[in-house]
Amino acid sequence: MRRLTSVFLTIVLLLAGCVPASAEENDVPDLSRRMNSFNEGWLFSCGEGDETASDPSLGDSTWEPVTLPHDWSISMAYDENGEAESGFLPGGTEWYRKKFVVPSSLKGKRISVVFDGVYQRAEVYLNGQKLGYHPDGYTSFSLDLSGGLIVDGSSENVLAVRVENPQPNSRWYSGSGIYRDVWLKVTDSVFVDEDATAIRYDVDQLKKQNNTETKAAIVLRNDSDNDANVTVHSVLRDPAGTAVGETSSQAVVQAKQTATVSQTIEARDLTLWSVDDPSQYTWEVAVSSSDDSDAVSIPFGYRYAEWDADHGFFLNGKAMKLQGVCLHQDYGALGTACYEAAVERQLNKLKRMGVNAIRSTHHAAGRILRTLCAQKGILLIEEGFDTYIYPKNGNVNDGSSFFLETVGSDNGIEHVYSDETWAEYISRRMVEESRNNPAVIMYSIGNELLGNFSGDTQDYPQYAEEIITWIKDEDPDAVVTIGDNLAGRDNAVQLAMDQALVDAGGAVGFNYAGGDVYDSMHAAYPDWCLYGSETASALSSRGWYSSPGVDEKNLQVSAYDTVHVGWGTTAQQAWKDVISRDFVGGEFIWTGWDYLGEPEPWNGLEPGSVSGQGASPKSSYFGVVDTAGFEKDTYYFYMSQWNPDVVTLHILPDWNVEDIVRDKLGRVKVDVYSNAASVELFRNGMSLGRKYFAKQTTEDGYTYQTCEGVLYLSWDVWYWPGEITAKAYDEDGNEITDTVGRSSVKTSSAAAQVVLTADRSELRADGSDLAFITAGIRDEDGNPVDGASVDLNFTLEGEGRIIGVDNGDPTDLSSYQGSDESHASRRTFSGKALIIVQTSKTAGTIRVSASGEGLASSVIEINSATP
Ligand code: GAL
Ligand code: CA
Repeated sequence: MRRLTSVFLTIVLLLAGCVPASAEENDVPDLSRRMNSFNEGWLFSCGEGDETASDPSLGDSTWEPVTLPHDWSISMAYDENGEAESGFLPGGTEWYRKKFVVPSSLKGKRISVVFDGVYQRAEVYLNGQKLGYHPDGYTSFSLDLSGGLIVDGSSENVLAVRVENPQPNSRWYSGSGIYRDVWLKVTDSVFVDEDATAIRYDVDQLKKQNNTETKAAIVLRNDSDNDANVTVHSVLRDPAGTAVGETSSQAVVQAKQTATVSQTIEARDLTLWSVDDPSQYTWEVAVSSSDDSDAVSIPFGYRYAEWDADHGFFLNGKAMKLQGVCLHQDYGALGTACYEAAVERQLNKLKRMGVNAIRSTHHAAGRILRTLCAQKGILLIEEGFDTYIYPKNGNVNDGSSFFLETVGSDNGIEHVYSDETWAEYISRRMVEESRNNPAVIMYSIGNELLGNFSGDTQDYPQYAEEIITWIKDEDPDAVVTIGDNLAGRDNAVQLAMDQALVDAGGAVGFNYAGGDVYDSMHAAYPDWCLYGSETASALSSRGWYSSPGVDEKNLQVSAYDTVHVGWGTTAQQAWKDVISRDFVGGEFIWTGWDYLGEPEPWNGLEPGSVSGQGASPKSSYFGVVDTAGFEKDTYYFYMSQWNPDVVTLHILPDWNVEDIVRDKLGRVKVDVYSNAASVELFRNGMSLGRKYFAKQTTEDGYTYQTCEGVLYLSWDVWYWPGEITAKAYDEDGNEITDTVGRSSVKTSSAAAQVVLTADRSELRADGSDLAFITAGIRDEDGNPVDGASVDLNFTLEGEGRIIGVDNGDPTDLSSYQGSDESHASRRTFSGKALIIVQTSKTAGTIRVSASGEGLASSVIEINSATP
């Protein structure tokens, strides 16, 4: 039935293509699928919109054609009068328009538009009529277009979206615009509401016998004027795609109503989803009536995640420390424009470091992030709120501005109860989007809810309880959590919120609790399940060794693991506090990746320069990876602690005298991050001694290694040009040669060449896929010139375009954009720069070349193939 329909549709579309339409042919989008990408062919007002731009008859000849996802703030100039916490980049109000013709074959279809995320305050109009409003910048929303859509194969429809990001707005760089994907969903009048459909199973049964009944509460909608007698047929497929069970039932869905059909399928010998084996099942449901049919498949996974107040976190019965990172959601030069390839690169790098969990801070994760987490085996904490009713840091336009506002019964967005507040919509929507996703282990009811404002918070525990109720209502198995930064401070309101979580079976996350606080809280509240929801806030600039701590002149921070904010600690100390305590379930470091805004120690919450050097710095120093995606040294520290599958062996600093700081005696501190049992260090072939870790094993069997009280090895070495080399040995003293990281550092001579390397050699020619190309500076022998700061020019030829350049330097205020689609320039920072290239829809070769004065240039070719 389904196949027939699509064959029929294809024929109709082919025919439609032969008939000359009044609109240009490429304005008729391909709407042959159930979910159609609606990213292409938008117009962006580019400062030219006004309050009446919803009226399609008003001109848009000055508007700029754009393809979504799109963040307009990232291409604007840094504004010294902006706020450091927001990356000195402006917001504003802009419009988007999409003009499209709907083939007449789709007459009678139900057509809705789905926005994965718009920052912020989106108002959606169709052909001049306002359909709805969604202020939150992070949850998805959808609107039924059927009522106002002209479906005749020739008339143009105009979808207009007003997007407002009023300042001051956010404690971090939020980006502005339709920054995630948009979809046009085309169904018959009777259809499955997959977002409202929940798949559940009995966890106790699963634990006992690896078999369970799986129940789907399938939500059907009938938008027609007649009651529909439907047959609902479900098939459960295992990770290999084999059907392992099916069931059918009949139901009546009344006209203009929804109905929930519960179906159960029993399956045996289930493969559990885990971080090592992220196997997902799919629940396929087909619904048909005499007139209508629909079919969707919903991925989900079997797993059980549990907490124990004395032993921390367990996945599928196995004790496991959460080795997590907090992540904001910008992608450096791309701003918040969310491309799958950018998220995938981020997750691959983090997973390789040993990350098994992400906390989406401080908001609901997007579809791409959560889908990739499920596919790659990375656990995910969704977070609902950074604030309830009070603006943080004076940001009067943050989430507090609509927390208590009601959605409004005249608002056409879907998945709402008419009298609910945005707080309720956000809470429920977050869970609806994630409850079938095996990666999502917890829902946070908020981050540091009592910080960064003053105001009466007596109602906060009540808000917390309401949010917990909404979350549990959407998913009774949901584990709730919080980011509590007041542990040990006896704050009655905070303790009441924490207790509400505990009463609901949740786990309490502490932000920046040291070992003593974990201990005292565990002693005071022995039944609370605890973990570090936010830790470290260690600071570093990639490759910066020329000053011991904070460099006020250059606005850089030492890359040694020594600098952190006042409320935080070093990377090694934060992990030591966690790994040495079995009752602490893990940690989520602040942060996995550098982000725009919050450039501590030069952060500012009010407008204006903090450093006295204009709008610099504009991005954070918190990441273990910089904004360009280049690993800092701490990346290898975490790898040495978190990834047991490789032997990490990484030396810092580099070995060029002008890059590094020496003590009064002329010695250089050389640190080695490793999980080997011992490491020997050599300077120009001469041993500087071997250092041994002492292995520590906790009662629960977690292990870690210390030497001189810390989790890494350290030597003081007289500087002499040449080479420092490290050798790793196992417990029996055998040398390990297969190691990951920089196992030697060498004095380089002058910069002589630039070398391009790409993260991928094969791309999809889909107009969206990305390659991340690194330009590294080398001397004539090919040694990296780690401190090099040189201007590079990039040229692209072939089937692609340059969409961003970066180097990870928080103080570099040059544009993240190229000068045009084929040319860009960037100075290297600590020897590297990045070019981001996007494919076109034409298969072929993308050729990128890099040149710099006095340097041998480099060319790289990437193949872009038809997907
Ligand atoms: C935390 C906060 C984060 C970030 C961090 C910086 O208190 O939750 O959003 O501001 O501090 O150290
Ligand atoms: Ca502010």
